[in-house]
Amino acid sequence: MAQLTQLNGQLSVDGVRLRADLEALGRIGEVAGGGISRTSFSAADAQAREWYLERCAQAGLSVEVDGVGNMFVSAPADAHRHEPAVWSGSHIDTVPRGGRFDGAVGTVAALECVRRLHEAKVWLARPVRAVVYSDEEGNYSHLFGSSALVHGFTHAQLEALTGRDGDRFVDTFVAAGWDLDRATQTRLDPQAVHATVELHIEQGPQLEQRGDRIGVVTGIVGLGGATLTYRGRADHAGTTPMAMRRDALLAASALIVGLPDIARSVSDRAVVTVGVITVEPGGANVVPQTARLSVDFRDPDGERLAQLGRAITAAVGEVATRYGVQVDLDVAPVIAPCTLDERIQKIIAGAAAGRGLSASQLPSGAGHDSQNLATVAPTGMIFIPSTGGRSHCPQEHTTWQDIENGANVLLDTVTALAGR
Ligand code: GLV
Ligand code: MN
Ligand code: MN
Repeated sequence: MAQLTQLNGQLSVDGVRLRADLEALGRIGEVAGGGISRTSFSAADAQAREWYLERCAQAGLSVEVDGVGNMFVSAPADAHRHEPAVWSGSHIDTVPRGGRFDGAVGTVAALECVRRLHEAKVWLARPVRAVVYSDEEGNYSHLFGSSALVHGFTHAQLEALTGRDGDRFVDTFVAAGWDLDRATQTRLDPQAVHATVELHIEQGPQLEQRGDRIGVVTGIVGLGGATLTYRGRADHAGTTPMAMRRDALLAASALIVGLPDIARSVSDRAVVTVGVITVEPGGANVVPQTARLSVDFRDPDGERLAQLGRAITAAVGEVATRYGVQVDLDVAPVIAPCTLDERIQKIIAGAAAGRGLSASQLPSGAGHDSQNLATVAPTGMIFIPSTGGRSHCPQEHTTWQDIENGANVLLDTVTALAGR
């Protein structure tokens, strides 16, 4: 049952309902041994979407779903208003064996804001929409849903996308009941968005170390990604002398151990990660013929990100030559770093102060759909502390009090942006 709370006459979120929603969502996609696997367009993702739509229906809210599966939620009174809207949202997909809070907090808090404003019959000058972005974690493409909104995807681009399990996006998407033509037609009308704001867990240690309850995010890191395949030759593991081998996995390993030095040579903020390796044919007594790996690289500065991409590309080729293997390299378009809107940063800081919460500024090392939205509308982000700075793992944790605080700061920020 909803508990309607007021603070000094100020509208507040219902912390009990918020927690119950997060706990319910956190049970979808749980895996034995810990963590949540709710990768986009999987059965668990579909179940989470169904749960979310049901919660919207129970609250009497209107929902629109676009061609790539982004969901937009409004109070019925706002559903058909044409003024540029204030958007707040996040994602419900997770990384494999991820945590309960990444994306879920911002998604459920945004729903709670729209629901709370609706039931309190607050009329604002601009409509407010809660948004759920598809495939933020990039099983198929990093920040997929917001990239579709901002840049769009052609049929050829969708055809080229593959998931972590090697499945083709188009096969999984169509099998899950989605329509490819509608997907390619998905684009946002920039005039429809007045401003956006996203609540998220920090996913790092800074707020906890500073003892601050709220983070005012100043900017978001730039993201680069690539998939590469080294192609060597399968041979007998017992009879092939070391000097005769063309071992694809050995080449991949040489690349990987060199990546930290490449990152350090570019900047002290540059990071590079290889998180997926697939080896074929995959026999203990067979010299690896192919090794396919993902490379995720980041830097908060656009020029240094480009430099990092060039240095990695050069190393990929140099290693191939050294180990006598072929290489295919597929580099994804870079997602540029961004600076978040200063006026919204001030509104967030003011909202935190108004709630008696200590706040400080910090940049985001994680990627967010907000960096795509920031290219079309003034955008802000609110962070809340992550215990031990842990994220993208089952140990991810944020206290219920911090979540409620963050949701109240979100509610105040959305209300200020929409205007009374
Ligand atoms: C999203 O969580 C990312 O930073 O990869
Ligand atoms: Mn996230
Ligand atoms: Mn994430």
